[in-house]
Amino acid sequence: MRVAYISKQSKSFNLVCKTIAPDKSISHRCAMFSLLSDRTSTIKNFLLGEDTLASLSIAEQLGAKIKRDGGDIEITPPKELKEPDNILDCGNAGTGMRLYAGLLAGVNGLFILTGDKYLRSRPMSRVVNPLRDIGTKIDGREHGNLAPLAIRGGKLKPFRYNSAIDSAQVKSALILAGLRAYSKSYYRENLLSRDHTERMLRGMGAKITRLDNGWLEIQPLKKPLDPLNIKVPADPSSGFFFAVLASIMPNSSVIIKDVTLNPTRVEAYNVLKEMGANIEFIEKENIYEPIGDISIKYSGKLKAITVKKNIAWLIDELPALSIAMAVTNGKSIVKNAKELRVKESDRISTVLDGLNRCGIETTELKDGYEIIGGEFKEATVNSYGDHRVAMSFAIAGVLCGIKVEDTACIDTSFPNFFDILEEITEIKK
Ligand code: S3P
Repeated sequence: MRVAYISKQSKSFNLVCKTIAPDKSISHRCAMFSLLSDRTSTIKNFLLGEDTLASLSIAEQLGAKIKRDGGDIEITPPKELKEPDNILDCGNAGTGMRLYAGLLAGVNGLFILTGDKYLRSRPMSRVVNPLRDIGTKIDGREHGNLAPLAIRGGKLKPFRYNSAIDSAQVKSALILAGLRAYSKSYYRENLLSRDHTERMLRGMGAKITRLDNGWLEIQPLKKPLDPLNIKVPADPSSGFFFAVLASIMPNSSVIIKDVTLNPTRVEAYNVLKEMGANIEFIEKENIYEPIGDISIKYSGKLKAITVKKNIAWLIDELPALSIAMAVTNGKSIVKNAKELRVKESDRISTVLDGLNRCGIETTELKDGYEIIGGEFKEATVNSYGDHRVAMSFAIAGVLCGIKVEDTACIDTSFPNFFDILEEITEIKK
């Protein structure tokens, strides 16, 4: 098992971060959506994390030709997606598995999606059920709720689906299926979840329209889409670990360069701002979505906060935000976040377990938690195989010295995380 000991550091830091990992959600989508074109897509700054490389290698198994020079990739799709001669391994990635399920639902052939032990224990019925309803034959363990999933793709009926969960993975799976249905489909969610799928597919020429009544209208593809030509921006969820650290270390600051400023992705920064950090968004360009820099400066001790709305917009950042909540003067509350229970780990219990080991008082709720701000003490914390839990406690380690057990998972999304953290403190691995 890989472990890292992060030493306590009281010196302030001022970082300009040009090497935050490229966005994971967008990188997955680049690998997959390039299969919907008939020409070569050009992708710069693709995330070389285990999860997104798994999506790329699935694209290859489906017949794409891939030229790769570091993070610069050209993907030439096959004329028709081919039935692979082996199972398709999504690694640790829920996004990989759920989006590929939607993309393959309308393709003739047998496709078997699997993943690591964590992914094989995450719920898939959220995509399996609606895909079955429109004609896909899918099976898996527990009647199709758990991977491996065996998909027999074929003809798809159009749908009108009002989603009970605000999930970009469910939405994207259904949009991808809708592109291959025989007439228009409709999808609705209560809160707009991250919308990279709509933005990127529209940019490639797909007809996906948000109607006045809030429903998304998806028109089936009449011809292959235009190829992607994109430089993947930095991932705000990865940058957020350093944003938290800058806002809790006196006199510190960080600038996260060239990051997506998509409003469905930066809500955690808005919360940190409400807690008292000095945060500025500087938009510089718009390629499928707004891109720019985020500057974060320490501005005194953070205030406790209650977070219960727009949860889908900050769900991935809640582990790191919890570290910020743990150093305030009061009680912070997270509610309406039961989705945390089915992420890479049950993040309500894994985050609270880590905080308790560091001497922070917490209360577990069914759909969230309460954290009483206090002082971190030296501890050993387990990541439970969850990259965001591992990185959150590595950040907390700068305050008190923490040994994080099971750090290999960090490679799924942010392989150079420790290289950046080493600019701030000493790390023994
Ligand atoms: C993602 C969507 C979110 C997020 C995940 C990435 C995506 O999951 O938590 O890390 O790329 O679509 P849900 O859509 O299941 O909420």
